[in-house]
Amino acid sequence: MALEKVFSPALSGIQAHDEMRQGEAYFSSEISEIKSKKAFIETYGCQMNFSDTEIIASVLIQEGFSFTQNELEADLVLLNTCAIRENAETKVRNRLNALKTAKKHNPGLIVGLMGCMAERLKANVLEQEQLVDLVVGPDAYRDLPKLIRGVEDGQKMVNVLLSREETYADIAPVRLHSNGVTAFISIMRGCDNMCSFCVVPFTRGRERSRDPESILAEAKSLFESGYREVTLLGQNVDSYLYTNEETGTTVNFAGLLERTALISPLLRVRFSTSHPKDITDEVLHTMAAHHNICKYIHLPVQSGNSDILEKMNRGYSREWYLERITRIRTIMPDCGLSTDIISGFCSETEAQHQDTLSIMEAVHFDFAYMFAYSERPGTLAARKYPDDVSEADKKKRLAEIIELQNIHSKQSNLPDIGKTFEVLIEGFSKKSDNDWCGRNSQNKMVVFPRGNSELKPGDYVYVTIETATKATLIGTLVSIGE
Ligand code: 5AD
Ligand code: SF4
Repeated sequence: MALEKVFSPALSGIQAHDEMRQGEAYFSSEISEIKSKKAFIETYGCQMNFSDTEIIASVLIQEGFSFTQNELEADLVLLNTCAIRENAETKVRNRLNALKTAKKHNPGLIVGLMGCMAERLKANVLEQEQLVDLVVGPDAYRDLPKLIRGVEDGQKMVNVLLSREETYADIAPVRLHSNGVTAFISIMRGCDNMCSFCVVPFTRGRERSRDPESILAEAKSLFESGYREVTLLGQNVDSYLYTNEETGTTVNFAGLLERTALISPLLRVRFSTSHPKDITDEVLHTMAAHHNICKYIHLPVQSGNSDILEKMNRGYSREWYLERITRIRTIMPDCGLSTDIISGFCSETEAQHQDTLSIMEAVHFDFAYMFAYSERPGTLAARKYPDDVSEADKKKRLAEIIELQNIHSKQSNLPDIGKTFEVLIEGFSKKSDNDWCGRNSQNKMVVFPRGNSELKPGDYVYVTIETATKATLIGTLVSIGE
């Protein structure tokens, strides 16, 4: 990747921003020895990992690295990994295998495993994967420069210490692959929930919330650099709680949402992920009160059966979940809803699976991420419950869930035909440079012809929907927003 592309407009802009803009000259002429170190980073998994990669990139830039998109040109290859399901780890192992070519090409190449898989496997990675020189968990990215130097001195290096405090609040993320319009802001790290199927509490450690002042400064700086949408990220945003030790004042998630929304009516605010046991009416009322807080909630249900939910240690029942949905729809009738669903969790019967299909029918999610249960070593479920639903049944149930969701996704788009939505333009559509694409408040992708207008990414427009597919609304421009 060309340096210019790294620096503009794809930077968060907080503090380091100005420095880095000037940095183009700094990098291109003054310190040529530094410029020669090139990093290639690949990210797997959730949005939080993509957000972490922006922290890693910032740490590497401070250390004099630039970035390349060609692994054969790299001095350092980092894989920021996911451990949530077995196949996520298999993908990374295959990738490490393929990287042997790059190592042959450049025997001095340093290969590092970052993130959740690194944290789960710790130093064992070094025995299992000969190619890996560096193993770094999600709370140890500040230590990267020291660890890289250790590898340069001929050692294999590991730091998988988890922290109770680290939020990287003072590190300005480098927006590597940004569209210049939408950005993620990490507001907390870790998770204390201990859902029995989930490896995240073990790989990302205890929950901690980031200082709201640093979150707001990052959001403001993004807005001033032209960004028009921020997504506040956390494993369970509803349990966000920051206490200022000096003043004793606390900020909860509703308070943070509101303060972010007040930065500018032109800055859209989204968030992910909400938890059904914790999402409060206060949050829902805050969403309803601000036009620029997007009317969209990702609310993972996981299962529609209360006994399975209890085994999953989710902290709510089917009835509780449905009550939350009713509340959301009462307070915000136009709110988009998506979910996560797991098929074939330990001891799930066919009747319990039918409960999952029936809760889908009851809610009619606009969108869903759907998975077959994958046992993760060390989790509560792995220790307590046999993984006793056959692979064939898991797959069959997952196929039924996907089939039903496809119907619901298509149905959810049909009533939108004829409606006019405010859309934030993100860029050209995937299929054609003659079309713009952007999202409406409900997070649905909207595509419309560019025509002759002078529009650009980051502009708000009003689009009337004419047709729809399962995944996209297609319409025409009716007017230009503010
Ligand atoms: N097996 C399958 N899916 C899982 N998820 C988390 N852990 C597992 C697992 N062991 C899913 C959940 C969660 C999403 C991020 O990944 O649905 O909400
Ligand atoms: Fe995992 Fe549950 Fe935490 Fe989500 S809330 S990260 S599923 S333990």
